[in-house]
Amino acid sequence: MKKWLLTMLFGTALVLGACGGGDDNASEEPADNGDTGTEEPSDSEGGAVDTAAAEDVFKSNCASCHGADLSGGNGPDLTQVGSKLSSDEIADIIKNGKGSMPAGMASGDDVQLLADWLAQKK
Ligand code: HEC
Repeated sequence: MKKWLLTMLFGTALVLGACGGGDDNASEEPADNGDTGTEEPSDSEGGAVDTAAAEDVFKSNCASCHGADLSGGNGPDLTQVGSKLSSDEIADIIKNGKGSMPAGMASGDDVQLLADWLAQKK
């Protein structure tokens, strides 16, 4: 029972963290129940991608060029990159770079985490 409660609280914290992090979705703030959020249509996948963690890595490693809200800057807009590139292709770009994007902007597990997360942006 107690464990279940903790899990709930932890889950809520993650959802709140994901929303509160970067003013990117200021319009939706029900905050009482993650299920009603419009932010994550892929909820049914049981959290295969850790959105909060991916956003953190993105903000540290990628946002300087692609914008904290993915809308672009020095680099292209990534808000719909998933409709154009698969997670494998994105992982390849993160590892090897592309054009004026430097290689190795993320490493280890972060590469796949970012690639899976971005591939959902459609
Ligand atoms: C130094 C600036 C810079 C950083 C930092 C950077 N990028 Fe890029 N990125 C670019 C540029 C510029 C391009 C366009 C390259 C081209 O097509 O010639 C690009 C292209 C991309 C593309 C392909 C987009 C498309 O539409 O083809 C993806 C995906 C991408 N970046 C993801 C990332 C991720 C994830 C990170 C962080 C790990 C990151 N980038 C960090 C500059 C950057």
